[in-house]
Amino acid sequence: MAQAKSGSDRMEKIVSLCKRRGFIFQSSEIYGGLNGCWDYGPLGTELKRNLKDFWWRRMVRERDDVVGMDGSILMNRQVWVASGHENTFTDPMVDCRNCKSRLRADQLPEKNGRKQCPVCGSFDLTEPRAFNLMFKTYVGATEDESAITYLRPETAQAIFVQFRNILEVSRKKLPFGIAQIGKAFRNEINPRNFTFRSREFEQMELEYFCRPENGLELLEYWLQERLRFYRDIGLSSESLHVHRIQPEECAHYSKGTYDIEFEFPFGIQELEGVAYRTDYDLNQHQKASGKPLDYFDEESKQHFIPHVVEPSAGVDRTALALICAAYDEEVVTDEKGKSETRTVLRFHPRMAPIKCGVFPLLKNNELLVRQAREIVDQLRGEMMVFYDETGAIGRRYRRQDEAGTPFGVTVDFDTIGENGPALRDTVTVRHRDSMKQERIAIKELAAFLGERMR
Ligand code: GAP
Repeated sequence: MAQAKSGSDRMEKIVSLCKRRGFIFQSSEIYGGLNGCWDYGPLGTELKRNLKDFWWRRMVRERDDVVGMDGSILMNRQVWVASGHENTFTDPMVDCRNCKSRLRADQLPEKNGRKQCPVCGSFDLTEPRAFNLMFKTYVGATEDESAITYLRPETAQAIFVQFRNILEVSRKKLPFGIAQIGKAFRNEINPRNFTFRSREFEQMELEYFCRPENGLELLEYWLQERLRFYRDIGLSSESLHVHRIQPEECAHYSKGTYDIEFEFPFGIQELEGVAYRTDYDLNQHQKASGKPLDYFDEESKQHFIPHVVEPSAGVDRTALALICAAYDEEVVTDEKGKSETRTVLRFHPRMAPIKCGVFPLLKNNELLVRQAREIVDQLRGEMMVFYDETGAIGRRYRRQDEAGTPFGVTVDFDTIGENGPALRDTVTVRHRDSMKQERIAIKELAAFLGERMR
């Protein structure tokens, strides 16, 4: 219980910091918001971009067996019929007859073996019924049955239906993958835990096509690759958990699924699913469309439907995990002996929204300001930098600590040679985590910072 309380306190502080510093805002806030939808502010946008860029680099650019695609959000309705989403992409829903809340039947608390409404405590609940999570819409001017389609609930199906085109243009041989990052939409019954379960979110998905005999081995390979990715963006091994889904809980077509989970303040929850989906999806689309989605193996001269292993991650969930993992508070004492609590986001420099703060010691000294601005211009092409000249230098450091900026560069009187030639053209680099400072030559700054964030 104490742990739950400290978890919810911590989460409250994180949500408040996200708003205060411009990571994440409620969508349409001035109109009272829209449940399950979120807007990312300047820092959150940079964080998400760094995450997506690193995923793309790891999964596509650094490999020669993966290519990218960018599919449309709206697709022909038949895609969702064939994939099974129209009939089976549902969550069990119940209504509370007392307070009229709509609730997910599989997430209800129980008291004395009876399911209870978490809002009002009543036991007077309806029988569960299936609620389809896809957002329905109409394409074109006529709102009739023939115009129905859905906002995609996952990016994966665009990859399956373009498999043939991409195979032909990329001239890849098995095994190879197609990667995509994009928006997905689910009309979740209970959006909750800040951005963790949203109605609009982004996915980073890879469909890795292979020969049937290599599927199980590739499932293990991708699990390890994806764990390496999470460690490389700064999530500790201790905070990551692997949950093997029991065969009876897996989708009927899956021959094995792992969930990669993270210890959020509100509990251990899924970040990513790594699933061996066999040849189910390509088979379904081949049958429904009547178009061949097979692969011709030149060695064996055989046609077959490739199997697929799918690592499917959420951008928003991972961004939230990065913020939760980075959040820290510590008591620090300044040179005058005064103690205060320092809030710091200890992002890995790769993920940090701003890489470097640049500060002239005084804003009313033209030489200091000019030199600081020159440093900003020099670094800007390489990384996200932030110039700040207002307030005491300690305050400016604290503001960047809260934004998670790993390095602070201060231009002082030594830099402009006022205390002799020895330290001329050098700056103080202050490290966010240790708060230690060192002197670096301006001409070496870009390389010094660059090698710490690649
Ligand atoms: N193509 C497979 C697929 O979509 P999923 O487990 O339903 O599998 C994959 O979703 C990932 O997408 C999840 O692990 C999670 O990170 C993210 N995701 C799913 N639903 C989400 C939601 N409502 N809000 C935020 N992220 C979500």
